[in-house]
Amino acid sequence: MHGGIEFEVNATGHGIGAEISGIDLSEPLGEEAFDRIHAAWLEHLVLIFRDQRLSDADLKAFSRRFGELDQVPGWEPFAPAGHPEILVVSNVTEDGTPIGVLGDGEAAWHTDMAYIELPPAASLLYALEIPDSGGETSFMNMYAALDSLPDELREAVRGKQLNHDASHDSGGNLRPNHRPFADVTSAPGVRHPLVRTHPQTGRPALFLGRRLHAWVVGERLSDSESLLDRLWEHCEQGDFVYRHRWRPGDLLMWDNRVTMHRRDPFDGGQRRVMHRTQLRGREPVVAAAEV
Ligand code: SIN
Repeated sequence: MHGGIEFEVNATGHGIGAEISGIDLSEPLGEEAFDRIHAAWLEHLVLIFRDQRLSDADLKAFSRRFGELDQVPGWEPFAPAGHPEILVVSNVTEDGTPIGVLGDGEAAWHTDMAYIELPPAASLLYALEIPDSGGETSFMNMYAALDSLPDELREAVRGKQLNHDASHDSGGNLRPNHRPFADVTSAPGVRHPLVRTHPQTGRPALFLGRRLHAWVVGERLSDSESLLDRLWEHCEQGDFVYRHRWRPGDLLMWDNRVTMHRRDPFDGGQRRVMHRTQLRGREPVVAAAEV
């Protein structure tokens, strides 16, 4: 069992993320070690653990230390046998059938499942097989995105809500059981505040979800598009992104409430197999001071 002082926490130096080294997550974690990891996670938003050898049961056991696992309807065909709380993220097909989701294409910037009432608090992604190149995952610090907004944009987001389209995935593909629509203001989805307050740190962060088919509720579409374009341009030019080059045995966990991530495409002739868990979240809310 890990006590609490024998591992190191080193920030990536990119304004988000820290690597934790000297810990074997297949072993039970003592309270002191857990508290230190939890504090590092709230501070750095993304934690990187290299050189792990985790079974699906280990992955679930570690994830559960941070909260209740989400068991998501629709994951069933892509869950390893006996582990319905795990989603396989992969381009691999077996007998012509995909074993996982997301294929080999680019996944655009997004927060996981921002389009549901209770978006997950955290996601954990464990790398089993990795292509020689490509498939890197980048993470963006959404506290920093908000903190660095120019005054005029900071005012423009105050008190606003965003409608998050539920019908398209981060590859831009229409999800099963959804139909195309002509008018973005009628996209199916849920509304969340554009600025949300983290329930544990109390800090506000920009909450964009994803760009495609987003709408600032109540705005004319042209005004909404213009505001969103400026916000996304600000984020994409910001200096608060860490890009992770994967190795088999890497486990990453991110605070899905205050980060976005994107994935580079990779050669579809190579295998990429990842196992993911996510933790149940609460309804995103904004503190009165931000309205
Ligand atoms: C995701 O977007 O949740 C998966 C990221 C990845 O495949 O690296």
